[in-house]
Amino acid sequence: MSATDLRPPASPALTTAPAPLLLGWDAVELWVGNARAFAGFLSSAFDFRITAYAGPETGWEDRASYVLEQGDIRFVVTAALTPDSPIAAHVRLHGDGVHDLAFAVPDAGAAFDAAVARGARPLSEPHVVNDDHGGLRLARIAAYGDTGHTFVDRSGYGGAYRPGYATEGLPLPAVAARPVALGAIDHVVANVEEGSLERWVDFYRAVLGFERLRHFDDSQISTEYSALMSTVVWNGAKIVLPINEPAAGRRKSQIQEYLETYRGAGVQHIALATSDIVGAVSSLRQRGLRFLEAPAAYYEDVRQRLGHLDLPWEDLRRLGILVDEEPDGWLLQIFTETLSDRPTLFVEIIQRGGAKGFGAGNFKALFEAIEREQARRGHL
Ligand code: FE2
Repeated sequence: MSATDLRPPASPALTTAPAPLLLGWDAVELWVGNARAFAGFLSSAFDFRITAYAGPETGWEDRASYVLEQGDIRFVVTAALTPDSPIAAHVRLHGDGVHDLAFAVPDAGAAFDAAVARGARPLSEPHVVNDDHGGLRLARIAAYGDTGHTFVDRSGYGGAYRPGYATEGLPLPAVAARPVALGAIDHVVANVEEGSLERWVDFYRAVLGFERLRHFDDSQISTEYSALMSTVVWNGAKIVLPINEPAAGRRKSQIQEYLETYRGAGVQHIALATSDIVGAVSSLRQRGLRFLEAPAAYYEDVRQRLGHLDLPWEDLRRLGILVDEEPDGWLLQIFTETLSDRPTLFVEIIQRGGAKGFGAGNFKALFEAIEREQARRGHL
Protein backbone atom coordinates (compact mmCIF):
# COMPACT_ATOMS: atom_id res chain seq x y z
CA MET A 1 0.00 0.00 0.00
CA SER A 2 1.33 3.44 -0.81
CA ALA A 3 2.06 5.78 2.05
CA THR A 4 -0.47 8.24 0.68
CA ASP A 5 -3.24 5.67 0.66
CA LEU A 6 -5.09 6.77 3.75
CA ARG A 7 -4.65 10.48 3.20
CA PRO A 8 -7.96 12.22 2.56
CA PRO A 9 -8.10 12.20 -1.23
CA ALA A 10 -9.86 15.49 -1.60
CA SER A 11 -11.19 18.23 0.51
CA PRO A 12 -14.64 19.14 -0.71
CA ALA A 13 -14.20 21.24 -3.80
CA LEU A 14 -13.13 24.73 -2.82
CA THR A 15 -13.54 25.85 -6.39
CA THR A 16 -16.50 26.36 -8.64
CA ALA A 17 -14.48 24.98 -11.57
CA PRO A 18 -16.67 22.67 -13.67
CA ALA A 19 -15.93 18.96 -13.35
CA PRO A 20 -13.79 17.28 -16.03
CA LEU A 21 -15.74 16.23 -19.11
CA LEU A 22 -15.44 12.43 -19.55
CA LEU A 23 -16.59 10.75 -22.77
CA GLY A 24 -16.35 7.13 -21.60
CA TRP A 25 -13.81 4.37 -21.03
CA ASP A 26 -10.51 4.41 -22.86
CA ALA A 27 -8.75 1.40 -21.32
CA VAL A 28 -8.16 -0.67 -18.21
CA GLU A 29 -4.45 -1.28 -17.67
CA LEU A 30 -3.25 -4.21 -15.56
CA TRP A 31 0.28 -4.55 -14.24
CA VAL A 32 1.14 -8.25 -14.09
CA GLY A 33 4.06 -10.58 -13.51
CA ASN A 34 4.04 -12.08 -17.00
CA ALA A 35 2.32 -10.02 -19.68
CA ARG A 36 2.65 -12.62 -22.42
CA ALA A 37 1.01 -15.30 -20.28
CA PHE A 38 -1.74 -12.98 -19.01
CA ALA A 39 -2.48 -11.69 -22.52
CA GLY A 40 -2.57 -15.27 -23.76
CA PHE A 41 -5.09 -16.12 -21.03
CA LEU A 42 -7.34 -13.15 -21.86
CA SER A 43 -7.13 -14.11 -25.50
CA SER A 44 -7.80 -17.84 -25.16
CA ALA A 45 -10.33 -17.74 -22.30
CA PHE A 46 -12.23 -14.50 -23.10
CA ASP A 47 -11.71 -14.14 -26.86
CA PHE A 48 -9.84 -10.85 -26.66
CA ARG A 49 -7.86 -9.98 -29.80
CA ILE A 50 -4.32 -8.77 -29.30
CA THR A 51 -4.19 -5.57 -31.33
CA ALA A 52 -0.91 -3.93 -30.35
CA TYR A 53 2.34 -4.71 -28.58
CA ALA A 54 5.22 -2.73 -27.12
CA GLY A 55 8.52 -4.06 -25.80
CA PRO A 56 12.21 -4.25 -26.70
CA GLU A 57 11.27 -4.88 -30.35
CA THR A 58 9.52 -1.49 -30.45
CA GLY A 59 12.18 0.35 -28.48
CA TRP A 60 11.07 -0.19 -24.87
CA GLU A 61 13.77 -1.93 -22.86
CA ASP A 62 12.02 -1.90 -19.48
CA ARG A 63 8.58 -3.37 -20.16
CA ALA A 64 6.44 -5.62 -22.35
CA SER A 65 2.86 -4.53 -22.96
CA TYR A 66 -0.04 -6.06 -24.87
CA VAL A 67 -3.24 -4.30 -25.95
CA LEU A 68 -6.34 -6.53 -26.09
CA GLU A 69 -9.68 -5.53 -27.56
CA GLN A 70 -13.19 -6.92 -27.89
CA GLY A 71 -16.25 -4.83 -28.80
CA ASP A 72 -15.67 -1.47 -27.13
CA ILE A 73 -13.51 -3.03 -24.37
CA ARG A 74 -9.79 -2.32 -24.28
CA PHE A 75 -7.46 -4.00 -21.77
CA VAL A 76 -3.72 -3.37 -21.59
CA VAL A 77 -1.49 -5.83 -19.74
CA THR A 78 2.03 -4.75 -18.93
CA ALA A 79 4.94 -6.43 -17.17
CA ALA A 80 8.39 -5.27 -16.06
CA LEU A 81 11.56 -6.40 -17.79
CA THR A 82 13.89 -4.88 -15.18
CA PRO A 83 14.05 -5.50 -11.42
CA ASP A 84 13.97 -1.79 -10.49
CA SER A 85 10.83 -1.06 -12.52
CA PRO A 86 7.82 0.46 -10.70
CA ILE A 87 5.79 -2.27 -12.41
CA ALA A 88 7.87 -4.92 -10.63
CA ALA A 89 7.35 -3.11 -7.31
CA HIS A 90 3.58 -2.95 -7.93
CA VAL A 91 3.42 -6.67 -8.70
CA ARG A 92 5.59 -7.57 -5.70
CA LEU A 93 3.19 -5.70 -3.41
CA HIS A 94 -0.20 -6.36 -5.02
CA GLY A 95 0.25 -9.33 -7.32
CA ASP A 96 -1.39 -8.97 -10.72
CA GLY A 97 -3.89 -6.14 -10.61
CA VAL A 98 -5.40 -3.04 -12.15
CA HIS A 99 -2.98 -0.12 -12.24
CA ASP A 100 -5.06 2.38 -14.18
CA LEU A 101 -8.61 3.12 -15.28
CA ALA A 102 -8.28 5.43 -18.28
CA PHE A 103 -11.09 7.74 -19.42
CA ALA A 104 -11.53 9.19 -22.89
CA VAL A 105 -11.75 12.99 -22.74
CA PRO A 106 -12.00 15.77 -25.32
CA ASP A 107 -9.16 17.69 -23.63
CA ALA A 108 -6.66 15.99 -21.29
CA GLY A 109 -5.18 19.28 -20.06
CA ALA A 110 -8.56 20.75 -19.20
CA ALA A 111 -9.69 17.51 -17.51
CA PHE A 112 -6.49 17.40 -15.45
CA ASP A 113 -6.69 21.09 -14.47
CA ALA A 114 -10.33 20.73 -13.45
CA ALA A 115 -9.68 17.57 -11.42
CA VAL A 116 -6.67 19.07 -9.64
CA ALA A 117 -8.53 22.32 -8.93
CA ARG A 118 -11.26 20.18 -7.37
CA GLY A 119 -8.81 18.31 -5.10
CA ALA A 120 -7.18 15.49 -7.12
CA ARG A 121 -3.59 14.47 -6.42
CA PRO A 122 -1.65 14.85 -9.69
CA LEU A 123 0.46 11.90 -10.88
CA SER A 124 1.40 12.99 -14.39
CA GLU A 125 1.11 16.53 -15.76
CA PRO A 126 -0.58 16.96 -19.16
CA HIS A 127 1.82 15.96 -21.95
CA VAL A 128 1.79 14.89 -25.60
CA VAL A 129 3.29 11.66 -26.93
CA ASN A 130 4.01 11.71 -30.66
CA ASP A 131 4.68 9.27 -33.46
CA ASP A 132 3.91 9.14 -37.20
CA HIS A 133 0.18 8.93 -36.39
CA GLY A 134 0.07 12.25 -34.56
CA GLY A 135 0.03 13.34 -30.93
CA LEU A 136 -1.77 11.61 -28.07
CA ARG A 137 -2.55 13.88 -25.12
CA LEU A 138 -2.34 12.32 -21.64
CA ALA A 139 -2.53 13.32 -17.98
CA ARG A 140 -3.02 11.27 -14.82
CA ILE A 141 -4.41 11.64 -11.29
CA ALA A 142 -4.39 9.34 -8.26
CA ALA A 143 -7.42 7.36 -7.09
CA TYR A 144 -7.82 4.66 -4.40
CA GLY A 145 -4.78 2.62 -3.33
CA ASP A 146 -2.14 2.57 -6.06
CA THR A 147 -4.80 2.89 -8.76
CA GLY A 148 -4.93 5.98 -10.97
CA HIS A 149 -7.06 7.58 -13.64
CA THR A 150 -5.49 8.63 -16.94
CA PHE A 151 -7.24 11.23 -19.08
CA VAL A 152 -6.74 10.31 -22.75
CA ASP A 153 -7.44 12.71 -25.63
CA ARG A 154 -7.20 10.83 -28.95
CA SER A 155 -8.46 13.68 -31.13
CA GLY A 156 -4.99 14.41 -32.54
CA TYR A 157 -3.88 10.79 -32.82
CA GLY A 158 -4.67 8.22 -35.51
CA GLY A 159 -2.59 5.28 -34.23
CA ALA A 160 -3.88 2.06 -32.69
CA TYR A 161 -3.27 2.63 -28.98
CA ARG A 162 -0.30 4.78 -28.06
CA PRO A 163 3.04 5.75 -29.60
CA GLY A 164 5.59 2.97 -29.04
CA TYR A 165 3.10 0.17 -29.77
CA ALA A 166 3.36 -1.94 -32.94
CA THR A 167 0.30 -3.41 -34.63
CA GLU A 168 2.02 -5.87 -36.95
CA GLY A 169 4.06 -8.98 -36.31
CA LEU A 170 2.44 -9.40 -32.90
CA PRO A 171 4.00 -12.15 -30.80
CA LEU A 172 0.72 -13.93 -30.05
CA PRO A 173 -1.67 -15.10 -32.78
CA ALA A 174 -5.44 -15.06 -32.42
CA VAL A 175 -6.99 -18.23 -30.99
CA ALA A 176 -9.38 -20.19 -33.18
CA ALA A 177 -12.29 -21.06 -30.88
CA ARG A 178 -15.95 -20.16 -30.50
CA PRO A 179 -16.47 -16.38 -30.37
CA VAL A 180 -17.65 -14.82 -27.10
CA ALA A 181 -18.93 -11.38 -28.21
CA LEU A 182 -18.51 -9.16 -25.17
CA GLY A 183 -19.50 -5.59 -25.95
CA ALA A 184 -18.50 -2.96 -23.40
CA ILE A 185 -17.36 -2.23 -19.87
CA ASP A 186 -20.52 -2.07 -17.76
CA HIS A 187 -18.96 -1.13 -14.41
CA VAL A 188 -15.70 -1.42 -12.48
CA VAL A 189 -15.83 -2.12 -8.75
CA ALA A 190 -13.35 -0.92 -6.10
CA ASN A 191 -12.70 -2.41 -2.67
CA VAL A 192 -11.56 0.25 -0.15
CA GLU A 193 -10.53 0.11 3.51
CA GLU A 194 -13.15 -0.10 6.25
CA GLY A 195 -14.35 3.37 7.18
CA SER A 196 -13.22 5.00 3.93
CA LEU A 197 -16.25 4.38 1.68
CA GLU A 198 -17.74 7.83 2.21
CA ARG A 199 -14.37 9.47 1.64
CA TRP A 200 -14.04 7.82 -1.77
CA VAL A 201 -17.64 8.58 -2.69
CA ASP A 202 -16.85 12.21 -1.82
CA PHE A 203 -13.69 12.00 -3.93
CA TYR A 204 -15.60 10.99 -7.06
CA ARG A 205 -18.29 13.58 -6.41
CA ALA A 206 -15.87 16.41 -5.66
CA VAL A 207 -13.05 15.66 -8.12
CA LEU A 208 -14.88 14.16 -11.09
CA GLY A 209 -18.38 15.54 -10.55
CA PHE A 210 -19.91 12.05 -10.26
CA GLU A 211 -23.30 11.42 -8.69
CA ARG A 212 -24.35 8.87 -6.14
CA LEU A 213 -26.45 6.24 -7.94
CA ARG A 214 -27.19 3.59 -5.29
CA HIS A 215 -26.24 2.65 -1.78
CA PHE A 216 -26.45 -0.77 -0.15
CA ASP A 217 -25.80 -1.13 3.56
CA ASP A 218 -24.76 -4.19 5.49
CA SER A 219 -28.34 -5.14 6.25
CA GLN A 220 -28.84 -5.62 2.49
CA ILE A 221 -25.48 -7.23 1.71
CA SER A 222 -24.72 -9.76 4.35
CA THR A 223 -24.55 -13.48 4.79
CA GLU A 224 -24.22 -15.60 7.87
CA TYR A 225 -20.50 -14.80 7.91
CA SER A 226 -19.57 -11.58 6.23
CA ALA A 227 -20.97 -8.21 5.32
CA LEU A 228 -20.12 -5.21 3.23
CA MET A 229 -21.40 -1.81 2.33
CA SER A 230 -21.46 -0.48 -1.19
CA THR A 231 -22.15 2.82 -2.91
CA VAL A 232 -22.33 3.25 -6.67
CA VAL A 233 -21.12 6.50 -8.23
CA TRP A 234 -21.36 7.35 -11.91
CA ASN A 235 -20.80 10.18 -14.37
CA GLY A 236 -24.44 10.09 -15.47
CA ALA A 237 -23.56 8.07 -18.55
CA LYS A 238 -21.10 5.27 -19.30
CA ILE A 239 -18.74 5.35 -16.34
CA VAL A 240 -20.20 3.45 -13.38
CA LEU A 241 -18.03 2.76 -10.34
CA PRO A 242 -19.42 0.80 -7.38
CA ILE A 243 -17.23 1.09 -4.25
CA ASN A 244 -17.27 -1.54 -1.47
CA GLU A 245 -15.99 -1.46 2.08
CA PRO A 246 -15.97 -4.35 4.54
CA ALA A 247 -18.43 -4.40 7.42
CA ALA A 248 -18.28 -6.38 10.62
CA GLY A 249 -19.60 -9.93 10.35
CA ARG A 250 -19.22 -13.18 12.23
CA ARG A 251 -16.08 -13.98 10.26
CA LYS A 252 -13.73 -12.16 7.92
CA SER A 253 -15.50 -10.18 5.20
CA GLN A 254 -14.53 -11.15 1.68
CA ILE A 255 -13.69 -7.48 1.14
CA GLN A 256 -11.28 -7.66 4.07
CA GLU A 257 -9.69 -10.76 2.54
CA TYR A 258 -9.18 -8.81 -0.67
CA LEU A 259 -7.65 -5.82 1.16
CA GLU A 260 -5.23 -8.08 3.04
CA THR A 261 -4.30 -10.10 -0.03
CA TYR A 262 -3.99 -7.17 -2.43
CA ARG A 263 -2.27 -5.14 0.30
CA GLY A 264 -4.65 -2.22 0.04
CA ALA A 265 -7.53 -0.78 -1.92
CA GLY A 266 -7.91 -1.75 -5.56
CA VAL A 267 -10.16 -2.99 -8.32
CA GLN A 268 -12.22 -6.02 -7.26
CA HIS A 269 -14.08 -6.81 -10.46
CA ILE A 270 -14.69 -5.60 -13.98
CA ALA A 271 -18.19 -6.19 -15.39
CA LEU A 272 -18.35 -6.79 -19.15
CA ALA A 273 -21.68 -6.44 -20.94
CA THR A 274 -23.02 -8.74 -23.64
CA SER A 275 -26.30 -8.83 -25.54
CA ASP A 276 -26.28 -12.67 -25.49
CA ILE A 277 -25.13 -13.99 -22.13
CA VAL A 278 -26.20 -17.58 -22.88
CA GLY A 279 -24.04 -17.65 -26.02
CA ALA A 280 -21.17 -15.83 -24.29
CA VAL A 281 -21.08 -18.06 -21.19
CA SER A 282 -21.42 -21.22 -23.33
CA SER A 283 -18.32 -20.14 -25.24
CA LEU A 284 -16.43 -19.04 -22.14
CA ARG A 285 -17.11 -22.38 -20.43
CA GLN A 286 -16.08 -24.26 -23.57
CA ARG A 287 -12.86 -22.25 -23.56
CA GLY A 288 -12.18 -23.50 -20.03
CA LEU A 289 -13.03 -20.39 -18.01
CA ARG A 290 -14.22 -21.21 -14.49
CA PHE A 291 -17.10 -19.44 -12.72
CA LEU A 292 -18.46 -19.21 -9.20
CA GLU A 293 -21.22 -21.80 -9.03
CA ALA A 294 -24.64 -20.97 -7.63
CA PRO A 295 -26.14 -23.64 -5.37
CA ALA A 296 -28.89 -25.81 -6.93
CA ALA A 297 -31.34 -24.34 -4.43
CA TYR A 298 -30.75 -20.93 -6.02
CA TYR A 299 -32.66 -21.93 -9.17
CA GLU A 300 -35.60 -23.37 -7.28
CA ASP A 301 -35.84 -20.13 -5.33
CA VAL A 302 -35.32 -17.79 -8.26
CA ARG A 303 -37.85 -19.56 -10.49
CA GLN A 304 -40.43 -19.24 -7.77
CA ARG A 305 -39.72 -15.54 -7.40
CA LEU A 306 -39.09 -14.61 -11.03
CA GLY A 307 -40.65 -17.43 -13.07
CA HIS A 308 -42.99 -14.89 -14.70
CA LEU A 309 -40.05 -13.53 -16.70
CA ASP A 310 -39.74 -14.85 -20.26
CA LEU A 311 -36.16 -16.15 -20.02
CA PRO A 312 -34.33 -19.31 -21.20
CA TRP A 313 -34.50 -20.80 -17.70
CA GLU A 314 -33.02 -24.19 -18.60
CA ASP A 315 -29.99 -22.58 -20.25
CA LEU A 316 -29.54 -20.21 -17.31
CA ARG A 317 -29.58 -23.07 -14.82
CA ARG A 318 -27.28 -25.26 -16.96
CA LEU A 319 -24.75 -22.43 -17.35
CA GLY A 320 -25.05 -21.13 -13.76
CA ILE A 321 -26.22 -17.65 -14.78
CA LEU A 322 -27.89 -15.59 -12.02
CA VAL A 323 -31.15 -13.68 -12.54
CA ASP A 324 -32.43 -10.53 -10.90
CA GLU A 325 -35.46 -8.31 -11.44
CA GLU A 326 -35.89 -4.63 -10.65
CA PRO A 327 -38.76 -2.25 -11.33
CA ASP A 328 -37.24 -1.28 -14.69
CA GLY A 329 -36.43 -4.77 -15.98
CA TRP A 330 -34.24 -7.84 -15.47
CA LEU A 331 -30.55 -8.54 -15.51
CA LEU A 332 -28.53 -11.71 -15.97
CA GLN A 333 -25.05 -12.06 -14.51
CA ILE A 334 -22.29 -14.51 -13.67
CA PHE A 335 -18.93 -14.11 -11.95
CA THR A 336 -15.64 -15.78 -12.88
CA GLU A 337 -13.26 -17.23 -10.35
CA THR A 338 -10.40 -14.85 -9.60
CA LEU A 339 -8.17 -14.38 -12.65
CA SER A 340 -4.73 -14.70 -11.16
CA ASP A 341 -2.80 -16.35 -8.32
CA ARG A 342 -3.94 -14.09 -5.50
CA PRO A 343 -7.71 -14.17 -4.81
CA THR A 344 -8.28 -10.56 -5.84
CA LEU A 345 -9.49 -9.54 -9.30
CA PHE A 346 -12.37 -11.24 -11.12
CA VAL A 347 -14.69 -10.56 -14.05
CA GLU A 348 -18.49 -10.36 -14.19
CA ILE A 349 -20.42 -11.05 -17.40
CA ILE A 350 -23.72 -9.15 -17.48
CA GLN A 351 -26.71 -8.79 -19.79
CA ARG A 352 -29.27 -6.11 -19.04
CA GLY A 353 -32.91 -6.37 -20.00
CA GLY A 354 -33.79 -2.88 -18.80
CA ALA A 355 -32.55 -3.20 -15.21
CA LYS A 356 -30.00 -0.55 -14.27
CA GLY A 357 -28.88 -2.10 -10.97
CA PHE A 358 -26.22 -4.58 -9.95
CA GLY A 359 -28.07 -7.74 -9.01
CA ALA A 360 -28.82 -6.88 -5.38
CA GLY A 361 -31.19 -9.87 -5.27
CA ASN A 362 -28.20 -12.10 -6.09
CA PHE A 363 -25.75 -10.65 -3.59
CA LYS A 364 -26.50 -13.23 -0.96
CA ALA A 365 -26.19 -16.21 -3.33
CA LEU A 366 -23.06 -14.72 -4.84
CA PHE A 367 -21.37 -13.97 -1.53
CA GLU A 368 -22.12 -17.42 -0.22
CA ALA A 369 -20.43 -18.82 -3.32
CA ILE A 370 -17.41 -16.55 -2.75
CA GLU A 371 -17.31 -17.63 0.89
CA ARG A 372 -17.11 -21.28 -0.14
CA GLU A 373 -13.98 -20.36 -2.13
CA GLN A 374 -12.68 -18.29 0.79
CA ALA A 375 -13.16 -21.25 3.14
CA ARG A 376 -11.21 -23.48 0.73
CA ARG A 377 -8.31 -21.04 1.04
CA GLY A 378 -8.56 -21.13 4.86
CA HIS A 379 -9.38 -17.40 4.97
CA LEU A 380 -12.87 -17.56 6.47
FE1 FE2 B 1 -20.74 -6.10 -10.51
